[in-house]
Amino acid sequence: MIKDIIESNEAVTANAREIAALKEHFPSCFHSDGSFDIERFKEFLSDKVDVTSEGYELKFLGKNYARLLASEDTTTVIQPDEEHNSKPENVNSENIYISADNLDALKHLLKSYAGAVKCIYIDPPYNTGKDDFAYNDKFDFSIEELSEKLSINEEQAERILDLTKRGSASHSAWLMFMYPRLLLARDLLSKDGVIFISIDENEVTNLRLTCDELYGEDNYIGTIVWKNVTDNNPTNIATEHEYILCYSKNKERVSPIWKTSIVDIKDKVLQKEAELLSEIEDEEMLQEQYTLWYSTVKSQLGKLDGYKFIDRNGVYAGSRSVHNPGKNGYFYDVIHPITGKPCTPPLMGYRFPEETMKKMIADGRILYGDDENKIIEIKQYLHDYEDKLASVIELDGRSGANIIRQLFDNKNVFKNPKTPAILKEFIPFVMNDDDIIVDFFAGSSTTAQAIMELSTVSKNNYKYILIQLPEPTKKDSEASLFGFSTIDQVGQERIIRAAKKIKEDHPDTTADLGFKHYTLVEPSKDTLDKMETFNPEMITFNNLVNEFGVPTVLTTWLVRDGYGFNAKCKEIDFNGYTGYWCDKHLYLINEGITQEQIAEIVEKLENDTTFNPENIVLFGYSFNWARTEELNINIKRLKDTDRNLRINFDVRY
Ligand SMILES: C[S@@+](CC[C@H](N)C(=O)[O-])C[C@H]1O[C@@H](n2cnc3c(N)ncnc32)[C@H](O)[C@@H]1O
Repeated sequence: MIKDIIESNEAVTANAREIAALKEHFPSCFHSDGSFDIERFKEFLSDKVDVTSEGYELKFLGKNYARLLASEDTTTVIQPDEEHNSKPENVNSENIYISADNLDALKHLLKSYAGAVKCIYIDPPYNTGKDDFAYNDKFDFSIEELSEKLSINEEQAERILDLTKRGSASHSAWLMFMYPRLLLARDLLSKDGVIFISIDENEVTNLRLTCDELYGEDNYIGTIVWKNVTDNNPTNIATEHEYILCYSKNKERVSPIWKTSIVDIKDKVLQKEAELLSEIEDEEMLQEQYTLWYSTVKSQLGKLDGYKFIDRNGVYAGSRSVHNPGKNGYFYDVIHPITGKPCTPPLMGYRFPEETMKKMIADGRILYGDDENKIIEIKQYLHDYEDKLASVIELDGRSGANIIRQLFDNKNVFKNPKTPAILKEFIPFVMNDDDIIVDFFAGSSTTAQAIMELSTVSKNNYKYILIQLPEPTKKDSEASLFGFSTIDQVGQERIIRAAKKIKEDHPDTTADLGFKHYTLVEPSKDTLDKMETFNPEMITFNNLVNEFGVPTVLTTWLVRDGYGFNAKCKEIDFNGYTGYWCDKHLYLINEGITQEQIAEIVEKLENDTTFNPENIVLFGYSFNWARTEELNINIKRLKDTDRNLRINFDVRY
């Protein structure tokens, strides 16, 4: 499998992905020699699209190099962390944590999750000059190779490679790093999927242009301005905010109205409401007791802090929705129940006709001031509360660090984490039950904590996939003193500790609090060299199976064949030889198969109607030429039997 990929990577060009897409959808525009007929292509567009020769685009050094990186296939294998994954809390978990470079991990993910991810949230390095952003791809092109691949001169190739090697923090280096990742991320999104990207002043303009290009200007949803800090050392303008950009895969498929009833704190207030309503009959006493409780929790209520009243229908706030939004509202008298005088009407009149107002008064839906001078309000009950996603959010960003400290014995094991609260502001607007969120700059795993907490409150089964580079922690940092040698270790431990706390606080939670862990590994040079010189007519040699074990090869293939990281495989015993069956694929990875065992496989295919793989995949290094041929011939023969089986035979190296 790796050898095949290395060979095909040699032929990859910067625009390979785009050409493949064109070939798939417009085969008639290609001539037999592979050349593209642009005039014929224009004919396809003529009715619906204005073809323009004007326009502008984002240009930066290394843009083609970035596209080349996105086009090359991955040559790593997926190694499951078998000990962790078999623990009771993880064995059935559908959450995934990948320790790896995200460019590589995205390429694996795409094989199984293309078009399947509802939400992506990323918090990439901001390129502030202080955030340790260093270009960190590890592609090993020589100047000559790159100049040939990108059709550029050697001087340009050298400048690009320089950017990748010197750990440059220039705009070009940052764009070259982000571009291929954002490009691949788009393909993960479902048709109605969206991506949220945290960023600050340093790169927001470049990010916006990049996303306009990769996602399409049409698919821009909006920008959230997050006021997260107080600037105590202001320069010209005190910067007290950052941004969260939001783009969709296809805006037409995204619900045009975003509302959510999942508000973290709402549940807590509703619980108190139920408790008081069941214990207290008297309305005055009810309000008294609620006010007492309300004053102790007011500071935690955030946007619900207007809900200070209660009656027998529940907790409510006063809403000013009696006001007519434009001119020409309704004017009539609403009499104050105590003073007996008409209440002051809204400036533009009431929004409802008098009959509707009378009904609302009769139903007890109207909230009066102490006397007639206050404009009346409508009672808005908490159980009907729905949130909207506002473009400005005010939320103290420091709470992220406090949460980490609470989980890690007051130690600051991760610098500048986001707070789960900010993620909880937007995730409920886009995710539904069973949806997947991906965060490929996972850091301390804030996204996982937010998802576990949201799943607990909403009882939805949200799933996450997190990717974090096993970046070494800094010597003498609190993380390293705590015993973490890499950041992905911090991220995994954060999930474990946050899950424990959630379980303590909500013993009845049904949320998925575990995760499966995988690492992406490059085969050793020795294995690669041997793969290079392997001759199928000779006997087998030390290979990927010997280096990593069957579970690694199997997991890598299952993901490659679209079954995902949570695929369940059946082990099938063919007279002492174990094969692995998952839906349409039967995998034969182990070496040492005998003629009798091949006969057993063929016999089962021929006679067992419940056993119906459509592909047999062989690990080429485990089979000598004679056995491979024997199996191949026997499989072909099955199409002439009663079952008329047409099974695809795939030997992977
Ligand atoms: C700004 S932090 C994210 C913080 C995170 N949102 C949190 O709340 O903890 C960016 C993270 O991306 C990681 N990172 C940088 N380059 C990466 C790469 N190529 N692949 C995966 N992770 C990477 C860094 O190690 C860092 O932990």
